[in-house]
Amino acid sequence: MRLGILGSGSGSNMQAILDAIDAGTLDAEIALVLSDNPDAFILERAAKRGIPTGVIDCRGFKTRYPEEAQLETARQLKDAGVDIICLAGFMRLVKQPLLDAFPDRILNIHPALLPAFPGVAAWKQAVEAGATETGCTVHYVDAGMDTGPAILQAKVPVYPDDTPETLHARIQVEEHRLYPEAIQFVGEKLGL
Ligand code: GRF
Repeated sequence: MRLGILGSGSGSNMQAILDAIDAGTLDAEIALVLSDNPDAFILERAAKRGIPTGVIDCRGFKTRYPEEAQLETARQLKDAGVDIICLAGFMRLVKQPLLDAFPDRILNIHPALLPAFPGVAAWKQAVEAGATETGCTVHYVDAGMDTGPAILQAKVPVYPDDTPETLHARIQVEEHRLYPEAIQFVGEKLGL
């Protein structure tokens, strides 16, 4: 199964995917890593491993993912022979051009038990809401913000003295275990 990864930041989830591939628990290969942020550490991590990388040109828009850029992304991923797209800390909403090119083959990891706390900094939302439990969700991507069907979830406790940072660190431990497992599950379901 050939994976295409889209990320905007540190890429610790991509690293966890690579570690699972190395450990033999995920039968996959990362074919291409793309970022909308030329300075994102995820690109550096990928390049270090010899994985092809690219920068998505969002035409100067801060948050939008313009249609032409999505078409370009779809073409690049198709050219790389990608079967499944994994969003890993990708900060733009994917819409029709990309969704139509990879129907039911785009996954995302979200740091909360969806449908609770969709959107940005879900760990901060959980602390501010006084939640005693949160977690992470791997889900199929649709045109909404963190609204697609869930594939796997993992729970994480919230402690009274948690800060957004300590909680996020605890959630990330679970993310790194859950994402490779969910990708393997989807790949097997698709017969890849
Ligand atoms: C993760 O917490 C993920 O759930 C969220 O963005 C963060 C990305 O972290 N969507 P990283 O770039 O994988 O380290």
